[in-house]
Formats: sequence, C-alpha cells, structure tokens
Amino acid sequence: MVLALLSDIHGNIHALDACLQWIQKEEIDGIVYVGDYVSDFPHSHQVLTRIRETMGQYRTWIVRGNREQYMLDYRDCDTKEWKYGTSYGSLLYTYESLEPEDFDFMERLPRQTLIRIQGTEPILVTHGSPRSMRDLLNTKGKEELTQQVLNELPVPYMICGHSHKQFILQQGDKVLMNPGSVCFSISGDPGISFATIEWEGGRWIPQLRHLSYNIEDVIESCKTSGLMEKGSFWTRAVVQSLRTGVNHQLHMVKAAQRIAKEAGVSAELGQIPLSIMEQAFYETGIEEPKKGDLST
Ligand SMILES: [Fe+2]
Repeated sequence: MVLALLSDIHGNIHALDACLQWIQKEEIDGIVYVGDYVSDFPHSHQVLTRIRETMGQYRTWIVRGNREQYMLDYRDCDTKEWKYGTSYGSLLYTYESLEPEDFDFMERLPRQTLIRIQGTEPILVTHGSPRSMRDLLNTKGKEELTQQVLNELPVPYMICGHSHKQFILQQGDKVLMNPGSVCFSISGDPGISFATIEWEGGRWIPQLRHLSYNIEDVIESCKTSGLMEKGSFWTRAVVQSLRTGVNHQLHMVKAAQRIAKEAGVSAELGQIPLSIMEQAFYETGIEEPKKGDLST
C-alpha cells in the first residue's frame, strides 16, 4: 500500500500535472491532498478541476487549507476590500478566476480527515494542525506547540502542510510528516516537493521526494495571465521562490511586518502599505532594484 502526499499546490497546474504523471508511472494506491490548492499561481480553477478528476481515478483523502478558507470567507463577507496591485491582488485574481462549482467543492472539504485502511495504522491529515489550519508545526519558535499537538494526537501518525517545509519528525511513539510544497520547493533546489508513504513491516514508512519540471512555462503563465502585474510584489516574490527554491515570500512578509511595526502602521498583511512591501521586497534581495523603481 503506497500513498502519494501532495500539499500546497497553490494554483500551479504545471507542477500538479508533473506529480500526476509521476504517480501514473508508479504503483500508487491513493492520493492524499493536504490543502492550499488555490492562489499564488494563475491556475486555481484548473487545479481544483484536476483534483476532482483524480478523485474518480484514485482513492483520495483531502482536507481544506487556509487559502480555500480565505476564498470562502471573502465570498461570504459584505465588504469586498481586496484590490489589484496590493498585497491582496493575487488573492483577488484567484477569487475572480474561480467558478461556482469550485466554491461548492471547497465548502465540502473537511478541516481534517482520518486515513483508515484495513490492516494499517490510522493517520490524521490536516493542513496546519488539529487546532488551526494556520499552525506552522515544526518550524522555528513552534517547538512547544508541535510537542503539545503530538502529545494530544489520538493516532500514531499525522500529515500536515502549510509551512512548505518538507520533514519527517519522530517524537516518542508519534510520527509527524510534511510532504513540502508542490507549487515550489523551498529546499534550495527548485522544483516540486512531495512525499509518499508505504505500509511495510507493520508501520508507515515515509519518503520525501523531489521532482524537476519546466518552471519556465509557469513563469510565462504568470506573465501572460496578468497575475504578475495584479499580484504586484507578492507574485514577483512567488516567481523568484519558484526560480531559486528559497522561500522569498516568507522573508518578504517578515521584513514588511517589521518595517510596518517600526513605522507604527498595521502589520496585518493586507493592510501593509505597498511602499513598505516594496521596501521589504528589495531589502530581502528578491530582485535588484532598477533605476526609478523604489518609491521610498
Ligand atoms: Fe497554508
């Protein structure tokens, strides 16, 4: 019994299709989707459509990520404040690209699910943690939280995503794993991070995996779709992360939040002024500023 674990696809249909091609060639018995299928790259609707197609071909376990939750919350809120060219431009692009059936699908996704296969140990699947889909387990500063979550875990295995960090963590009799991100690896090696788990010898054996594919097609689609412009510095950071295998997005957000706090303005991501995002974008070295680029 071998399952493929795919997390954080983020609208990158080229990367998802590369994974599915690999899965077709291997002896894979099922697919586990760990959340965040939409936003950041231009093909969120296509990704959700493809996931639905694979559900007819493979035994599937699937949970909702925080990006799906953003889309559902935005649909349900009265004030529509996302604007192009801001930190929320990329989310607005995604929101406008989704079809009614995508919202129906996202709404039906559970926050967590249990993989129960006869003759194997159960596995809990959730995007962040059972407490919050935005928890970043096993990252810097989250050691205590990770320990608590594993102590409370009612089953021996858990799969999470969200941080894009690929890892296997064994603590006592519990195993926590994150397959990394399909949309772009943050291992320093550009490409796709995902994982498989195999039931063998009375236990689940995880294997972290990496795939290379043609990222130039993805970069081109960001340009031709208009997302590069509409998503502003966010999309430019995403594209650079794709090229380098470094999580530039995260570094930029951290820098922008620090600058915002120093300037005494809101450090809430969507409220950070574009000039501060721009400063953070260049300060973290994502791109070299061109003459006349910096507004500050
Ligand atoms: Fe996430």
